[in-house]
Amino acid sequence: MNIRQLLDHHVSKALIAAGAPDKTPAVIKQSNRAEFGDYQANGVMGAAKKLKINPRELATKVLENLDLSDIAEKVEIAGPGFLNIHLKSAWLAEQLELALNSDTLNISPATHPQTVVIDYSAPNLAKEMHVGHLRSTIIGDALVRVLTFIGHKVIRQNHVGDWGTQFGMLLAHMNSLPSSGEALSMQLSDLEGFYRTAKKRFDDEDGFAETARDYVVKLQAGDAECHALWQQFIDISLQHCEDIYSRLNVLLTRDDVMPESAYNHDLANVIKDLDTAGLLTEDQGAQCVFLDEFKGKDDKILPAIVQKSDGGYLYATTDLAALRYRHKELHANRVLYFVDARQSLHLNQVFAIAKAAHFVPQEMQLEHMAFGTMMGKDGKPFKTRDGGTVKLIDLLKEAEQRAFDLVSEKNPDLSEDERKKVAHTVGIGAVKYADLSKNRSSDYIFNWDTMLSFEGNTAPYLQYAYARIQSIFRKAGKIDDTATLHLNEAAEKQLATKLLQLSEAIELVVKDGTPNILCNYLFELAGNFMSFYEACPILKADDEIKNSRLKLAKLTAQTLDTGLGLLGIETLDQM
Ligand code: ARG
Repeated sequence: MNIRQLLDHHVSKALIAAGAPDKTPAVIKQSNRAEFGDYQANGVMGAAKKLKINPRELATKVLENLDLSDIAEKVEIAGPGFLNIHLKSAWLAEQLELALNSDTLNISPATHPQTVVIDYSAPNLAKEMHVGHLRSTIIGDALVRVLTFIGHKVIRQNHVGDWGTQFGMLLAHMNSLPSSGEALSMQLSDLEGFYRTAKKRFDDEDGFAETARDYVVKLQAGDAECHALWQQFIDISLQHCEDIYSRLNVLLTRDDVMPESAYNHDLANVIKDLDTAGLLTEDQGAQCVFLDEFKGKDDKILPAIVQKSDGGYLYATTDLAALRYRHKELHANRVLYFVDARQSLHLNQVFAIAKAAHFVPQEMQLEHMAFGTMMGKDGKPFKTRDGGTVKLIDLLKEAEQRAFDLVSEKNPDLSEDERKKVAHTVGIGAVKYADLSKNRSSDYIFNWDTMLSFEGNTAPYLQYAYARIQSIFRKAGKIDDTATLHLNEAAEKQLATKLLQLSEAIELVVKDGTPNILCNYLFELAGNFMSFYEACPILKADDEIKNSRLKLAKLTAQTLDTGLGLLGIETLDQM
């Protein structure tokens, strides 16, 4: 149990003992001002309203029934009936010891572990990954790490687009090139250029469009030669993705790829079963599902098309098949989709249809973790100078280059190899953190200068805070782990309380899929550490206090490292 849960437990019990109805929420919040204590219980007012009694009177009764003597040094009634809880230093110190002696910072695992499928990254393999794939890839990966950390079984699913008409065009172009391996792999090393040339031929060259269509037909009919060519293309394209994943320190591997094409065999069944469930309606030759809850502006229902009039299947059909697979084969209790906000209607229709058709149980949690767009400085979607899409690999290379220049300037004495290593960790960390620290549902402006700054809520700031603590340890020599923790100064107590709140940040990230909560937590923690460091000298203090403060520093470093690790961001001992 974290502090919030612990207080919730005690205050809820006291509320009931004071006459409040069962399940009355205690509404425990971290206080934002020291004079209000460390935590507040705000549930008394709501309960008093229900009971139609004076809230301060109820608060007094709650206090009489509340025994926090082990945890809190005092609990006060404030304002209309808030309870302000001041935690006890001795209790905080005990909790810190438990965290220091644990591999997982003593963070309790989920009480109801689930099987959670996380659908993320999922680029279309016809093209190279571009900046539009960044958000899904890194936010999804952070959730994979956080959910795994607290004991859920997480299954990564990379639902890549590897099927459809574009591949006919690509295969036709591919097959007309000299097949000697090297020339071809040269061409495919720039997938984006390859796509552009194929598209140009498709648009301009006589007969090419027909050839392309033939390829699609052959591919779908299972023609072996065509399939082999396609497979070769897919392998190269996936290799591009994997290069990005490893550069980004993202966990996805080839084993997590579950492409659209993997569901081809089941698409006809999906249609048949929707029909059996009485959900299909023919509209202008196409097979559609109309559900009342999806109305457009004119009050007309927006259909989900699941089969075109020519018999072809659609994106929604594949997603329905995927959802069945995630239930039947993967046994998921919860599925999180990290997909652009613009696909919200599509996904919500898929979820509703899957439940209406009983493809998945009603209680299965299906959540669209929507995110906004990454914008340029001009407030428009991020583009190259001439208006083209920015390849993700180019963005990452630029991040590392900029970080390299910065490190070279700040720390010219490091060897070139070391500077490269720092540049990679800081550059990639900066790009990821800048994104993860924003509220995911809104658009955000991509800005090199702010993300690479050593001040403010950035990766370099946190990485630097970590490195700084490591340098204190280098100067201090050995830490005596058996030393008693003393939390006498206000800054020590504040840091101690913050250190014990990682679990509360994680709780929210798990519930809402919002890594920005964890970022804010780490930023506040680093800030608390800096204030502590200024107010409480470490190395100059006498041994007893020095060791106590070193232990606080040690737990701070471990917490920063764990927290950043949960975001997929690495730390450095020196930078
Ligand atoms: N490939 C899709 C795209 O690039 C994203 C897929 C998201 N996942 C899903 N199950 N629909 O837009």
